Amino acid sequence: MKPYTKPSATVLAIFGAGGDLTWRKLVPALYSLHCGSWLPEHIAIIGIDRKQMTDQQFRQHLREGVAQFAPQCPLTKESWGEFARRITCQVGEIDDQETYRILADNLDTIDKEWKAPANRIFYLAVPPMVVESIARHLGHAKMAGNDHRHRIVVEKPFGRDLHSARKLNAALTRIFDETQIYRIDHYLGKETVQNILAFRFANSLFEPIWNRRYIDHVQITVAEDLGVGHRGSYYDHAGALRDMVQNHLSQVLCLIAMEPPVNYAADEIRNKKVDVLRAIRPIPQDHMHKNAVRGQYGPGWIRGQYVQGYRGEPNVDPESSTDTFAAIKYLVDSWRWQDVPFYLRTGKRLPRKESLVVIQFRPVPHQSFPVSVMTRPQPNRLLIRIHPEEGIVLQFQAKQPGEMMRLVPAQMRFSYRETFHNRPPEAYETLLLDVMLEDLTQFMRADQIEASWALITPILEAWESIAPADFPNYLAGTWGPEEAELLTAQDGNSWYSPPLQNEPAEQEAEPS
Ligand code: BG6
Repeated sequence: MKPYTKPSATVLAIFGAGGDLTWRKLVPALYSLHCGSWLPEHIAIIGIDRKQMTDQQFRQHLREGVAQFAPQCPLTKESWGEFARRITCQVGEIDDQETYRILADNLDTIDKEWKAPANRIFYLAVPPMVVESIARHLGHAKMAGNDHRHRIVVEKPFGRDLHSARKLNAALTRIFDETQIYRIDHYLGKETVQNILAFRFANSLFEPIWNRRYIDHVQITVAEDLGVGHRGSYYDHAGALRDMVQNHLSQVLCLIAMEPPVNYAADEIRNKKVDVLRAIRPIPQDHMHKNAVRGQYGPGWIRGQYVQGYRGEPNVDPESSTDTFAAIKYLVDSWRWQDVPFYLRTGKRLPRKESLVVIQFRPVPHQSFPVSVMTRPQPNRLLIRIHPEEGIVLQFQAKQPGEMMRLVPAQMRFSYRETFHNRPPEAYETLLLDVMLEDLTQFMRADQIEASWALITPILEAWESIAPADFPNYLAGTWGPEEAELLTAQDGNSWYSPPLQNEPAEQEAEPS
């Protein structure tokens, strides 16, 4: 963790600057950092793309993205003007060495102008297949080497299985030192995800009960109501397991299951996360059908609106076998977690967008109260709500006021919105600032990526070896295929989804 200082002089060169990620996420995040005065005094943003564009056209295009995706920042003439003058556009092919020669000259000129060697961040907002080639060109143009002012940021997906991830790691680390590589997973930039560490390790209350003795099981759900939209051509070659489980859900799992770090140093945190992944028991082939469930949505209704099935989405194979839903049961072989199931599920076109961790505690060892006094009995649960209604909820039983003993479910709630009144930064704001500050804590190290792929790859192979006979196997607007219910039911459990604020409380104990 770096102290709160402004980063020193920085040049951010974005490859793929004409694309969606730059427009929707990166530049709006940079503009928000500019509004909050987080950016260094000397900063230059160079967009590299093959599209013919003048600086003026490029800035205008980015301005529209900022207006749409950073609405919290006033887009005044002064503020935008001050920010936009730092942006330039370099038209060039990413496989042409000349592009890199021009970039290198440009960077040298900037150093001379600023009279200081600026940090050089190369952000690869490009499809995965060109990552290695860009890195190689940067190396040839002497913009890599073991020099910390050169940093490379690589977006997910990082490989498509263990073999390709290893190959990519090997190629990158031949050119850059591991400490110059920032493999981004935007979930790690989310406030509520970062708060898991604070919640667990800055309080003495929870750690003593954070183990198999008190915890019955853990559920991690990342549900989306959206379909694949315009990303069909990418998604149809990825699927839910690669797109979400290998990275976002695994990251959350690591934060929940990791041992207390000795300090908040990047490698200490990352070591503890890798330990979790290495302790997860690989799913044996003959348990695959029980412990790894896949699904694909068919047409259905979401909030009163009819939506088409996955196979009807643009740029998707009409006979596609791609998973749009995945649910996995993992066991973690460690003293802390032996026999505690971790259930993970994610899917597109589920009833609503919700990211939630449920820590379900064991029942009381002996029930002193007769069944007759229990109204809607519920186990103790700790809900870590990542989205929406970000916060933490503790569910317990309480006596309902009245002459008779009657037990009802009650809650203690911490809500971000009600507790903190400042706007939480977007994940990309936090992560971009971290790269500028050379803080690797929230970025994935090579061994973590590989450990995560090592778990996922046998599942992918099992799924790819047998085409799913029943796809589509869930209706859009439902919580996935029936087998996902069996995944938890085999252990006597059920998925939990809290009611939305405007839903009646009676639904509280209902499984999703
Ligand atoms: C991305 C996935 O990494 O995360 C998308 O590629 C998914 O498919 C998105 O929609 C979800 O992110 P968030 O922040 O909206 O939960």
